[in-house]
Amino acid sequence: TETALTAAPGDVALLPCYTAGNVTPNLTTWRKNGQEVITDGVSSPVGQQQRLVVLQDGSLNIRGVTPGDEGSYLCSSTLPGNITFRARGPENVSTSISPASTLSNRTLTVHRGTSVSFNCSAYSYPTQELTWSFRGATSSNQSLASSSSSWLDFRIDNTQPSNQGLYTCTANNTFTHQAVNKDTELLVYYVPDKHPDCMWAPAEDPSHILFSCSWFGAYPTPTLHWMEEWEERDDPAALGRGPVNVSEVTEILSVKLNRSQLSEGQKLRCTAQHPVLAPGKEKECSLTLKLPFPEGEPLVTAMDGTSVTLICSESTSIPPANTTWRKGLQQEEINPGSKYIVSDEGAVLKLTIVNITKDDEGVYFCRSENPLAVTELEVYLTVRTSSAYTGAIIGIFIAVLIMGSAAIIAKTVFSSRHRICLGNIHLQMEEDRGDVLSLVESDDEQIFQAAVPRLPPTTNGHQTTLVQIHRIPSSDHEDAETADTSPQQQEDTAQTEEPVDLVTF
Ligand SMILES: *[C@@H]1O[C@H](CO)[C@@H](O)[C@H](O)[C@H]1NC(C)=O
Ligand SMILES: *[C@@H]1O[C@H](CO)[C@@H](O)[C@H](O)[C@H]1NC(C)=O
Ligand SMILES: *[C@@H]1O[C@H](CO)[C@@H](O)[C@H](O)[C@H]1NC(C)=O
Repeated sequence: TETALTAAPGDVALLPCYTAGNVTPNLTTWRKNGQEVITDGVSSPVGQQQRLVVLQDGSLNIRGVTPGDEGSYLCSSTLPGNITFRARGPENVSTSISPASTLSNRTLTVHRGTSVSFNCSAYSYPTQELTWSFRGATSSNQSLASSSSSWLDFRIDNTQPSNQGLYTCTANNTFTHQAVNKDTELLVYYVPDKHPDCMWAPAEDPSHILFSCSWFGAYPTPTLHWMEEWEERDDPAALGRGPVNVSEVTEILSVKLNRSQLSEGQKLRCTAQHPVLAPGKEKECSLTLKLPFPEGEPLVTAMDGTSVTLICSESTSIPPANTTWRKGLQQEEINPGSKYIVSDEGAVLKLTIVNITKDDEGVYFCRSENPLAVTELEVYLTVRTSSAYTGAIIGIFIAVLIMGSAAIIAKTVFSSRHRICLGNIHLQMEEDRGDVLSLVESDDEQIFQAAVPRLPPTTNGHQTTLVQIHRIPSSDHEDAETADTSPQQQEDTAQTEEPVDLVTF
């Protein structure tokens, strides 16, 4: 029953508990505003000095009321005999953490970044307290939430690896102090954003190559899988499978291949499988093997005393080639120093030869090696000495001189074209010999003379003279032809085109 009681400071207040009869309770507990203040049984001695005392009939005696004693007082008594209040629980303690996956050992897993709800419920009589607590790698025993109702909820947004650990819901019957714990292990899985790295390295045994695939930063450890594949010729969508097929739960997986197992166009693929990655969303890296192919100018010319830079670029090779400059047909390695400066700018390998001499002339090789093959770019360096240069200038000068003379001669010949000067034949009139022409072959200075037959006089009294000129080529004199014998008008023009076999007046 509820009773209202008023007291002044210093008063003795008596709060009655069991008023239905004169039975002495076995156990009496008093709570003030829900908090237990005193429990007492009939057998316990009554403390003389205590301000609060539970009397034999269960009533609470407050000796000397003080400010702060105000409140709501509740009495629970266990009576002897049939009339007994039985405390119950905690019972039906159940927890749920979601969304999460359950492993075979009942451990739950969630993915990093997700939101997770924790729920706990239980039943106790007369009262209970529910508490969620956490024990992780960095926190020993942290209380996360508590409640005195029949259920307790809380939530973690954006779960992180630090949220991994043991979650315990404790249901405590606050009357009997009986407690029940329910533990759940929670793992937070995660993967790195990046793809695995496919790399290669020469193995100790030079006939083998080590291909390694690494993928760090995933929890739990991923399964890496190396396989070999190629596109089928007749169906590019279909992939053939090669003999390479290795898989292991590891962060780094190496596979050693004999060089004879490798070929151009072959594809080596590494796939990383992980519980966080859905099937078909695996991360991967691959290497499609390509022959090395160093490129550059094959012919280089330089002046002695200067420096020259030979350039070679290698951007084709997969895996990346080891590219070096070599000298001579023996392909001796070039040691960088004051004479040779080797610089590497990404795919471009430069060789600078300082203070060139004639000895530097010759063949150089840009040698590119990858596991598949060695490919060389051959560069021939020609060294020009300064005397050769002078010679070239003199040569050019002479050539210009010859061409200039030719032009002057041509111009002279053209301007004096009214004189009879055809090819290498000069015609001269010999006044004193009347109708006799001298034919002079300038090459061999031979003079031909020919008697010209006189034609009968014409009706108008003029004479017509027939001149026959036979060109006698120095090479073949028999080829001379006889001119047309018909009389023609005199012509002032001479044909200048060669070969001229005949001129007729
Ligand atoms: C349950 O299995 C996971 C994964 O195999 C392991 O990490 C964890 O420690 C196990 N938990 C218990 C309690 O055995
Ligand atoms: C590499 O492969 C070739 C051809 O399959 C074989 O003859 C050779 O013995 C192998 N080398 C090694 C070191 O296994
Ligand atoms: C270039 O080489 C010549 C001959 O080897 C040497 O005498 C000269 O000092 C060198 N010049 C430089 C700048 O190195």
